[in-house]
Amino acid sequence: MTVELPPALKRLKPVADEAKSSPIRKVMQMIEKRDDLLSLAAGEARFDPPAQLIANACEAMQNGKNMYTSTSGIPSIREAVARFVQHLFGAVVDPDTQIILTVGGMEAIYLATRVLVSEGDKVLLPDPGWGVMVPIMDRKGARIEYYPLIEENNQWCIDADEILTRMDAGTRLVVINSPSNPAGATLSKEGFMRVLAKAKELNAFVMSDEVYHNFVYEGEFTSALSAGDLDNLIVINSFSKTFAVTGWRIGYAIAHPWLIRQMVMYKESTSLCTFAVGQWALASYLASSDDYLSNVRELCRVNMTMMVERLNAISGVRCSKAPGGFYLMPDFSERFDSSQAVFEHLLKGGVAVVPGNFFGSRGQASIRIMFAANTDFISACMDRIEAVLL
Ligand SMILES: Cc1ncc(COP(=O)(O)O)c(C=O)c1O
Repeated sequence: MTVELPPALKRLKPVADEAKSSPIRKVMQMIEKRDDLLSLAAGEARFDPPAQLIANACEAMQNGKNMYTSTSGIPSIREAVARFVQHLFGAVVDPDTQIILTVGGMEAIYLATRVLVSEGDKVLLPDPGWGVMVPIMDRKGARIEYYPLIEENNQWCIDADEILTRMDAGTRLVVINSPSNPAGATLSKEGFMRVLAKAKELNAFVMSDEVYHNFVYEGEFTSALSAGDLDNLIVINSFSKTFAVTGWRIGYAIAHPWLIRQMVMYKESTSLCTFAVGQWALASYLASSDDYLSNVRELCRVNMTMMVERLNAISGVRCSKAPGGFYLMPDFSERFDSSQAVFEHLLKGGVAVVPGNFFGSRGQASIRIMFAANTDFISACMDRIEAVLL
């Protein structure tokens, strides 16, 4: 039913195409009304955040840490992030000038894009890739070009050559997401070095989205920070996935002081600052997070291996391993014509996932399915999936 708009609204040009709203949000709205479904749709872990982090947050709230903070984040969280990044990635970052705390990794991406991308600039995005990047780039008038991720030896990876061949004088920004959403693909240190070197030659920028950094199952995580300098690199990160606190909306960016200052200026007149309680809680927690990080990583490794095995055992389903992240992208093209058809079929079996077409051309008869939950839950979802696909 179309509702006639009042005249004052009719005069306006929409700033967003409602038909392109994220299918993830639509699935989430449907799930809220159906308690018969088991959901592997959301882009968030279903395990608990660290107990100490929650205790720190309660204490911060009771101790009056409920007010605005400085726009780039309180000094103690910026210092804690600098130590965290040095401990985990071996990178030295100046907490005073090279870090900004943001409303999730998403605000960091949004602010950076405001500064870096202008109308007509070529932006390279991965396919399959996180669909939310598309409207962010579209709204700045970017010319989006996609580079394909590769499936090799039943495993997804990011091939630097696929990026390099698409980089030219018109390229302003290359987005790398390692480990990636939804494929879990990763890029090697050598790959990062080659892309960063070429970006320098072309005066282009690399945005390295590392929000799934803790979830690597093959080898070690590589941060772009270990492969280049901040002259033409911005690293996006977040605590959302790392500590299962997606609702806190806390992320951060590491970049050149000039870029950070620009982002801070923009943030001053948008969100102003990042969730104060979370900043205080994380500042006193990060240094003791090693055990939590390895426990959730090992849990996800077990789930991923089990899910890949069980999916591949279903006739007409093919599923590559994810070297990182917390999703799989099984292919159903032998049995279904579209990702929507797979989605609807699994829904009949009582499991919610996300149709793969949201993630680009490679997801046409595929779905995104999440494995960051306790193993019993993942197993119960797999029982339902097997039953409906027999
Ligand atoms: C690849 C990727 N980058 C960034 C984000 C943003 O996460 P947040 O804003 O919760 O930190 C997400 C969330 O799903 C993601 O999948």
